[in-house]
Amino acid sequence: MTAPHDPEILLALRDVHRTHGEGPTAVHALRGVDLTLRAGELVAVMGPSGSGKSTLLNLAGGLDAPTSGDVVVEGVALGSYSRSALAQVRRRRLGYVFQDLNLIPTLTAAENVALPLELDGTRARDAREDALRSLDDVGMRDAADRFPDDMSGGQQQRVAIARALVGPRRVLLADEPTGALDSETGEEVLAVLRRRIDAGAGGLLVTHEPRHAAWADRVVFLRDGLVVDSGDADAPSVGLGEVASA
Ligand SMILES: Nc1ncnc2c1ncn2[C@@H]1O[C@H](COP(=O)(O)OP(=O)(O)OP(=O)(O)O)[C@@H](O)[C@H]1O
Ligand SMILES: [Mg+2]
Repeated sequence: MTAPHDPEILLALRDVHRTHGEGPTAVHALRGVDLTLRAGELVAVMGPSGSGKSTLLNLAGGLDAPTSGDVVVEGVALGSYSRSALAQVRRRRLGYVFQDLNLIPTLTAAENVALPLELDGTRARDAREDALRSLDDVGMRDAADRFPDDMSGGQQQRVAIARALVGPRRVLLADEPTGALDSETGEEVLAVLRRRIDAGAGGLLVTHEPRHAAWADRVVFLRDGLVVDSGDADAPSVGLGEVASA
């Protein structure tokens, strides 16, 4: 018997392991991670290089599959989907923002944001309307018809956030989204991200910066593929100095 799904839980990782390779050279990138993401929640994922942060995000986004354990998106384990159904879940429910190269340079901002909807069969006019709404949410409505090369890095990341949360998508997975920005612009982008999440989405934010983690409700700290601490961003039991020097 399965427990009824709580609609507030957008994403859950249950005892997730991910091993690359086999035998003596196997790399245990994740060694039993549990994590729950609720609507309205931004969770920062921190930890030293190689601790498994990107692996965790890739699994959460269905870009990679766990060796064992479950990744559950809005109540359904990704492992139970066929290949084509998984591709559809990725388009409809999950949005990714990376450090850079998020946007397609030959498409305008609105076309970039509308793309996942169009790929999913939404009529072009409806997709554009949704895209404009999403751009409006991140303060980029006026840039709808501009190309990525004519925008600053911070503006491009705001468009990438608009695309990640266009239409019905509620799960935002961001891997160092401010890594290529100066710190002031990075803060502005995180403020936008925070506002979008407050409006009912949920997000995992991989970051090296303690001041960026301060935008989160909780910080999950990884070391060697294990969660070594999971606390409140306002009162972390891992001191931020320790995080910064990790
Ligand atoms: N495709 C792969 N094949 C083999 N090993 C891998 C692969 N992907 C990741 N790893 C290994 O898994 C471990 C975790 O990597 P991961 O990229 O998740 O770390 P990270 O915390 O994101 O690091 P960084 O802060 O440098 O981005 C590392 O030891 C890495 O070398
Ligand atoms: Mg990484």
